[in-house]
Amino acid sequence: MERRGAALGTGHTRAKFILMGEHSVVYGHSAIALPLPALSMDVEVHAVGGAARIRSEYFSGPLADAPSTLAGPIAAINAASGAFDVPLDGLLIDIESSIPAERGLGSSAAAAGALVHAFADMAHRRISDREHYDLVQVAERVAHGTPSGLDAVATNSRVPVLFAGGITAALPMTLQGSFVIADTGVRGRTRVAVAGLRRLREERPVWAESRLDRLGRLAEDAVADLAEARGEALGVRMSEAHGILSELGVSSRELDVLVTAATAAGALGAKLTGGGQGGCVVALAPTPAIAADVTRALHVAGATRSWVYDTMVPVT
Ligand code: MEV
Repeated sequence: MERRGAALGTGHTRAKFILMGEHSVVYGHSAIALPLPALSMDVEVHAVGGAARIRSEYFSGPLADAPSTLAGPIAAINAASGAFDVPLDGLLIDIESSIPAERGLGSSAAAAGALVHAFADMAHRRISDREHYDLVQVAERVAHGTPSGLDAVATNSRVPVLFAGGITAALPMTLQGSFVIADTGVRGRTRVAVAGLRRLREERPVWAESRLDRLGRLAEDAVADLAEARGEALGVRMSEAHGILSELGVSSRELDVLVTAATAAGALGAKLTGGGQGGCVVALAPTPAIAADVTRALHVAGATRSWVYDTMVPVT
């Protein structure tokens, strides 16, 4: 991030990955998400004068000329500026991200979340998690249509969270292991996947609901797996969840190939993570050595990038 004197406000959030319950969470079932601290979003706001400007990987220029791909962050800026009574004139809003966009890792919620923190910081306001969530959801509705709220919560959390119907609980975790997250290199299509599943649910309500219900139960059972260090049981549940998500039409050939490669290399289980139809998989490895084998196998099978989250390293 280019330095231009002390920032008026700063905000920080991180990527998330969904361990269990993507898609079913949209219908009120439980889901679990974890922070992915290797990837983060940082916002700095500076006073430079003139019309408000934004600087980001995707666009740099006057806020008023921002492309529609930045509609979510712009909605967050407007919502936060209104909520904290911070006029936009004269500001340069600098967004720096290491979270790849459209990979199911929460980049849009992380951007909105870091912006909201930066504006609260400018106004010297300590905001509650609820206030933060409500403002991020304004942006997420613009970016995604009908977001469950899971991404808004998870990208603002340092600990694993259980989320259902707008209610969040921090989850204890004694599980020792490594989650390997790998990118297919194909853009995820959350909005398309969510819309497709909605149609399927209208056409085959009983069939679809029984599967969504099962995904929610897998998430609830995974709570004890994390708390009681039951890696093998969790791995089996992850692989079952992937099978159900495939049946529901939200996987892809590339995701299936990576899931198969991870399990063949010694992962206890693997699944797509996030909106699907592209994006990333998550695999659970019981030891760092197996995590290295799984990572290698994922790259041989076509993964373009990967990250490891060691459950024993606290998130700062
Ligand atoms: C996207 O990261 C997760 C989905 O469940 C959508 C949502 O929760 O709004 C697919």
